[in-house]
Amino acid sequence: MRILTGLQPTGKLHIGNYFGAMEPAVRLQEEGEGFYFIANYHAMTTVKNPAELRNWCRELAIDFLACGLDPERSVFFLQSAVPEVNELAWMLSTVCPVSQLEKAHSYKDKVAHGFSPNHGLFAYPVLMAADILLYDSDQVPVGKDQKQHLEITRDLAGKMNEAYGEGTLKVPEPIIRESSAVVPGLDGQKMSKSYNNTLPLFVEADEAKKLIMKKLVTDATPLDEPKPKENSTLLALYRLVAGADAVAAMEADYDRGGIGYGDFKKRLLEAYLAYFEPLKKRRDEIAADPGYVDAVLAKGGLRAREAATVVLDRVRRATGIA
Ligand code: ADP
Ligand code: TRP
Repeated sequence: MRILTGLQPTGKLHIGNYFGAMEPAVRLQEEGEGFYFIANYHAMTTVKNPAELRNWCRELAIDFLACGLDPERSVFFLQSAVPEVNELAWMLSTVCPVSQLEKAHSYKDKVAHGFSPNHGLFAYPVLMAADILLYDSDQVPVGKDQKQHLEITRDLAGKMNEAYGEGTLKVPEPIIRESSAVVPGLDGQKMSKSYNNTLPLFVEADEAKKLIMKKLVTDATPLDEPKPKENSTLLALYRLVAGADAVAAMEADYDRGGIGYGDFKKRLLEAYLAYFEPLKKRRDEIAADPGYVDAVLAKGGLRAREAATVVLDRVRRATGIA
């Protein structure tokens, strides 16, 4: 079974990305043949600075490896290592109704937020469909926000099969993480780099301290009184990084009162640092050896391209291009 997923190299990863996307995706490599890629063509729709794009790709590659992606077991590559993905995207675009893209939420959201859309942003779901279909992927784990893109992918595969014969493209199964809770940001909204409310996944202890002690919002309950557990961002974050006993102890202290938020924040900071310490250590080791990252991506790119050639040859023949 082939499991494929991608992440865009558009900024520093935060713990929302980690718990919502990275960790569940990396865990799945135990269950099949993992294909993981860095969606750098997609990132071009928003990142216009070449040095920045290269840098985010490298950072994300190091993050992936630090989070446990095993390049021996899984195929790890840059989207651009297989430029043929653009050829399949073109073919898919010829069966994709414009009206379907006009209805895409992520496109509509960006436009609603005043973003002047380029054609790449409009066609984003078609390239994403090509990413998935080019590798005969069986399963595609993604967050809820990508659900519609997966529906478009399945629909386009169906349209190609209708036009050019069953089996031209494999129709993948989405694995949507409906249940995984949204990680709240320091201000209580969804954690997102667009809201400037993130707790980064990899950050120096000083910076983490500043963010948690100064920026994390709490309510104005006086020290002596019991603290409300519901909607507590501090507690929600603590549940992600602390052990069950420590969480139970903090909940009891919330109920009892007599302890201020400063104390709870210190506990959160300690748990956060302890939780990510081994990953950070691994990250520092990987980052110190740039040749290693290049070699991993080069090898992954070749393996991905081999797999892609099989599918693209089949589609070229089916469509009459070859
Ligand atoms: P951002 O909102 O910071 O721009 P992206 O949209 O690039 O993050 O998200 C990349 C992946 O991380 C997506 O699969 C998304 O589902 C997941 N993700 C992002 N933010 C969160 C969050 N706060 N909680 C859970 N998952 C998240
Ligand atoms: N659109 C995805 C995101 O923003 C990234 C992505 C691009 C992707 N191509 C993909 C995810 C193919 C899964 C499969 O998170």
